Amino acid sequence: MRSVVVGFGGALPRKCIKNDELPASLNTSDEWISQRTGIKQRYVIGEGESTSTLAAKAAKDALDFAKISPNDVELIVVGTTTGDYTFPATACVVQKKLNITNGCPAFDVSAACSGFIYALDIADSFIRTKRARSALVIGADSFSKILDWNDRSSCVLFGDGAGAVVLKAEEDTDRGIQYCKIYADGSYTDCLVTSGGVATTQGAGVVTMKGRETFKFAVEKFCDSFRELLKNNNLAIDDIDLIVPHQANVRIINKLIDVLKIDPKKVVITIDKHSNTSAATIPLALNEIKDTIGANKNIVLLSMGAGFTWGAALVKM
Ligand code: ACO
Repeated sequence: MRSVVVGFGGALPRKCIKNDELPASLNTSDEWISQRTGIKQRYVIGEGESTSTLAAKAAKDALDFAKISPNDVELIVVGTTTGDYTFPATACVVQKKLNITNGCPAFDVSAACSGFIYALDIADSFIRTKRARSALVIGADSFSKILDWNDRSSCVLFGDGAGAVVLKAEEDTDRGIQYCKIYADGSYTDCLVTSGGVATTQGAGVVTMKGRETFKFAVEKFCDSFRELLKNNNLAIDDIDLIVPHQANVRIINKLIDVLKIDPKKVVITIDKHSNTSAATIPLALNEIKDTIGANKNIVLLSMGAGFTWGAALVKM
């Protein structure tokens, strides 16, 4: 039994803030942000928008693309660390927004920017073990709500958004998720952490980050997990058609390209348009390229986030 990706969707808030709008309130510049990160703009939620509204819109798009009706969904997993509420899970709010009344399980996964890959791995396990025949896997975050907008070293990096895929069980196929491996190393919790939380400050806190350590770790783990994926699947780098890495900094992605000697044309980059949308970057990028992904293409997804958490997946379209 394999999980085949049959639908893609994405959603961005209405409001877009371009780099050159930031110096009005922050000691920064378009030049610094563009050169150091590749980011040109970010979207932030406004009135009437939240993580669940973006997640539900992305999910609806993905279901429409897959031509699957909401009540045929048998599992909803949302990777997020900025849900609408402490509880219930954003996945349950999405279930309500999509009018899914079939009682399917719905829960969130907290792995920061690796949330989508973690959610994908869990949903794939449900499908392979025949506990679900279809799944909505969503990555959605609203980091604009947990940024210190006076901290130029972190606030310029992030934006809000959601992306979703639909997985469908298929037997006797060589398409679908071939491999997914997720990892964590909790000894790095202090490198990328919010300044508070429910059981400490009774609030959400704001993002604090050791940028250089995070950068170094991301490059190392992107490369290590990619090499391991190739080895475990008896593949060479040339067998991979497309790579969709988590979009945190274009320089991290360029290092990956240099170290592994990847053809840059195979690497999907959306950070200029979306910034770092945390758990949403990978499914949002997949949604951007959905009409150009041909059948039988080997796609590698790579993630890295607070924890530190990271992961790699191989999907055959
Ligand atoms: N505008 C202007 N100057 C700035 C800004 C800004 N927005 N931010 C920092 N600076 C200044 C610093 O104050 C410093 O000035 P100084 O030399 O006078 O002290 C100078 O720029 C250099 O700062 P560094 O932190 O050394 O810059 P660096 O080249 O390391 O880039 C960055 C910083 C972009 C944060 C980089 O380290 C990075 O991308 N790290 C990884 C971030 C990341 O991937 N985060 C998320 C991963 S996981 C997830 O997505 C949740």
